[in-house]
Amino acid sequence: MKSLNEKKQIQLAEEEIKKYASIVESDPNRLRYHLMPPVGLMNDPNGLIYWKGTYHVFYQWMPFATTHGAKFWGHYTSRNLIHWERQAPALAPSEWFDRNGCYSGSAVDNDGVLTLFYTGNVKDDDGTRHTYQCMAISSDGLHFEKKGVVVHLPDGYTAHFRDPKVWKHENKWYMVIGAQSEQLDGKAVLFRSDDLMHWEHIGAIAGGEDGNFGYMWECPDVFRLGGKDVLIVCPQGLQPEGMHYQNVYQAGYFVGQLNYETGQYAHGTFTELDRGFEFYAPQTMVDEYGRRIMIAWMGVPDQDEDKHPTIAYRWVHALTLPRELVLVGDKLYQRPIEQLQLLRSDEVHYPNVSLHKETMQFDGVEGKTVELLLKHIEGQGVLSIDIQNDVSFSYDFEKRVATLQRESFARRGEKEKRQCVLSNLRTLHIFIDTSSIEIFLNEGEEVFTARFFPHEKNEHIVFKTNGRAAFRLYKWKLC
Ligand code: FRU
Repeated sequence: MKSLNEKKQIQLAEEEIKKYASIVESDPNRLRYHLMPPVGLMNDPNGLIYWKGTYHVFYQWMPFATTHGAKFWGHYTSRNLIHWERQAPALAPSEWFDRNGCYSGSAVDNDGVLTLFYTGNVKDDDGTRHTYQCMAISSDGLHFEKKGVVVHLPDGYTAHFRDPKVWKHENKWYMVIGAQSEQLDGKAVLFRSDDLMHWEHIGAIAGGEDGNFGYMWECPDVFRLGGKDVLIVCPQGLQPEGMHYQNVYQAGYFVGQLNYETGQYAHGTFTELDRGFEFYAPQTMVDEYGRRIMIAWMGVPDQDEDKHPTIAYRWVHALTLPRELVLVGDKLYQRPIEQLQLLRSDEVHYPNVSLHKETMQFDGVEGKTVELLLKHIEGQGVLSIDIQNDVSFSYDFEKRVATLQRESFARRGEKEKRQCVLSNLRTLHIFIDTSSIEIFLNEGEEVFTARFFPHEKNEHIVFKTNGRAAFRLYKWKLC
């Protein structure tokens, strides 16, 4: 049973949804096939799980404002990862251990009971922060009952200790938590349990030392893929280095081998997951076919969050498309899940495009909700694709650099770009959804994710080259 206070909070949130529904839905920037908040601010995806035939995606949600604050867990369900249904909020801040927010966390199936772990965030009047790792359970996947605190802050860490991700390995449960050490280094900290209630602190499996890799790590996730152990984590406090670490905070991963007995994790270097502007706090789950699926927040904390034009319509942010992860060597490739093909209609196909120092638009290749696929790409000079006169993707065949450029929505009139080196470009797979774009290069070897907000809505997609470019082009309308 939920407490009266939690029920009251949830009722207020539902009223907020009703009150603003027509304003939110009238926003021309509203997305068509991505998860968004019904009102207010959405951030991290939480509790991703395929459970009893249904996919669950929970998310960090502030219903009453388009700023951060005392977070709820919003809730969506789906049978196919494509068509989603909104459910009642799963968790609301209400108890002494979570009164300033039910922060990020994860879900597991414990013998048929859907079990959530989240961080109870508490702030005293004087600003002192407390953190509690909490549990909540459900037998129907729709109604959740809080069970209180299962992990207290261990010695050696500040109260920036949150985002429990729980999984099972050889009949024991493990939990990894994002942390800040008392020396102000970001860490990923491991716990072990037999029953999900009592947790043994094993220690940090990875982290910075002496300030060399950020002051805080958020939203860790550990999983086995391709015979290796992957740790995804979001470090805060990295300085930009060439084309790397251009966003305010990062999201990336390590690949290695985790010794579950000792908590030793021998791993390689950190690699960024996404090269675009808006991508953070990814989380993964295993789907019904055994594939590792990742969904992230299409936003970054503190990065022009108050400047998003959607705020005028009382909502902000969205989640990325679900992406299948595949490990190729020590590199994570991300592929848009196959089921997205269910959204396709109006196929247009140009089997032999060949451009020579020209600018081209193709009949039928336009729109606001579009999937574009370019295969067998080759060329010289620079190939660029301009979308809605606002965002432009280009690849320089000589310099071997991919660039995403957009007009800044925070500083109008200013262009800004993100780049990465890519030794060749063979395929480009682009998903445009009104005001979001996700670009997968070479079957997901690199990905650029971004929001964009053109001044004037148009549906143009323009191809340009100052040299030569040839490819096979497919386009679908989506939704
Ligand atoms: C990441 C994060 C998490 C925290 C949550 C609060 O975006 O800061 O560390 O649990 O958001 O909404």
